[in-house]
Amino acid sequence: MWEIDLTYREELQTTFDRLYEKKQVLQTSRPLPNIALNKIRESLSIEWTYNSNSIEGNTMSLRETQMVLQEGITVKGKSLREHFETHNHDKAIDYLFSIVNDEYKLRSIDILSLHGFVLRSIEDDFAGRIRNGGVRITGANFVPPNANRVSDLLDELIVFINENPLQLNDIELATVFHHKLVYIHPFFDGNGRTVRLAMNLLLMRCGFPPAIILKNDRKKYYEALNQANKGNYQKLTVLMTQALERTLNIYLNAMPDNDKEYIEISNLVKEPDMPYGQEYISLLARQGKIDAYKEGRNWLTTREAVEDYILNRKRKR
Ligand SMILES: Nc1ncnc2c1ncn2[C@@H]1O[C@H](COP(=O)(O)OP(=O)(O)OP(=O)(O)O)[C@@H](O)[C@H]1O
Ligand SMILES: [Mg+2]
Repeated sequence: MWEIDLTYREELQTTFDRLYEKKQVLQTSRPLPNIALNKIRESLSIEWTYNSNSIEGNTMSLRETQMVLQEGITVKGKSLREHFETHNHDKAIDYLFSIVNDEYKLRSIDILSLHGFVLRSIEDDFAGRIRNGGVRITGANFVPPNANRVSDLLDELIVFINENPLQLNDIELATVFHHKLVYIHPFFDGNGRTVRLAMNLLLMRCGFPPAIILKNDRKKYYEALNQANKGNYQKLTVLMTQALERTLNIYLNAMPDNDKEYIEISNLVKEPDMPYGQEYISLLARQGKIDAYKEGRNWLTTREAVEDYILNRKRKR
């Protein structure tokens, strides 16, 4: 259960390094004014709620999610349940922010509490409680463990995370935790939403912003989980680094002395002296070999990112 194929590691090292560097920049720069920080945090919370609930099947749009949370309105045509899901998830994020700090250690009670928030007023009998019967995951290539093993497996997972015997970095640890938790599938429902919250406890306790898995990546996310079910964490880790880099960039872009300009790759290749074409730069972006992130359907990167890559290649030769 706890064995992990780590052969993907070397290939992702540049990406990990870059994410740690970005975190370092955030932590050592003059802090953003509180107003700006609160604004980013609020818009991230809305995005997080929208995307995570939307993966689960909630039909509320980003804009509707924002209106429900900020204006307290109800949206015509959306069920009471969908409204509860929206408010519940937002409260779960608040709770998460309230318990996380740089000494945070994962506890099963916190996972149960987050789950309690997620299903409150929706499935009150199950909210915050591990399952006592079998479950199946549609489209998955395995059946989750028997209900009588869930409690022990959950405890083992927590020990594994806190002791970190394989010395995984924080991003890998959050990724493995994400997968192992949905593999155990401790709850009848709400497993995905709960782990997409709980994994961020592991990232945020060490100064990363939350990683948000996007609704648009849902298909890739499920494929990555199916790969992880076979012990291979490469796809899921790449997805996590991309999600994390996106939020890191949101903070970095808000910093006053930030002169990096992210532009769409299709526009960057039109600039003079670009030695690579759109396809190649897109490939580097997808593989995490250059500083880049995806917004909607488009990849954005900077001129410096491509120049750094060229420089590094020359040095290696
Ligand atoms: N092939 C798979 N292998 C492992 N885990 C999977 C697979 N497919 C989906 N999952 C996980 O199971 C979750 C769904 O479980 P569940 O319905 O309990 O959670 P939810 O929060 O109600 O829904 P969702 O997770 O879709 O938001 C997915 O979000 C994902 O994290
Ligand atoms: Mg569900």
